[in-house]
Amino acid sequence: MHLAETFRLALAVIFVALAAAACATRDTTTAKAADPTRELFQRNCAACHGHEGEGRQIGTLKVPALREGRPASDPDERLFAQIQDGGNGMPPFKYSLTDEQIRDLVRFVREGLQGRGPSRQ
Ligand code: HEC
Repeated sequence: MHLAETFRLALAVIFVALAAAACATRDTTTAKAADPTRELFQRNCAACHGHEGEGRQIGTLKVPALREGRPASDPDERLFAQIQDGGNGMPPFKYSLTDEQIRDLVRFVREGLQGRGPSRQ
């Protein structure tokens, strides 16, 4: 086999691998986007709380992580009320989201971000 031929073959292999990787990436993206509550979170909450609920410092506003700390120990009703009414630097969402969407978001914080089942509190 000529060297040039080997080289071309290697390029083809790399190309196929890259194409497969690109497909795999696209698949996980659609899987994530297919969860409407995750999308709701990314659209309304991630700018402050971070994409995985890790929390952020925005200027002088310290946005808490949702994965741990107080949001993990507070009961569902407390999280629901905070999302509904906001307060302490967080805007209220009762004008833009339905009660059902807010309930879904509480569930998402528990299961998607804190990684546990429905709370028994
Ligand atoms: C403008 C930034 C901002 C946005 C947008 C925002 N938050 Fe917050 N959030 C905060 C801040 C700041 C706090 C801390 C409030 C406090 O200390 O009482 C907070 C607190 C919380 C808490 C904690 C309640 C508790 O009992 O500990 C939850 C849960 C929460 N946010 C969920 C959400 C969800 C869900 C969304 C999207 C629908 C959202 N937040 C959007 C800034 C934001």
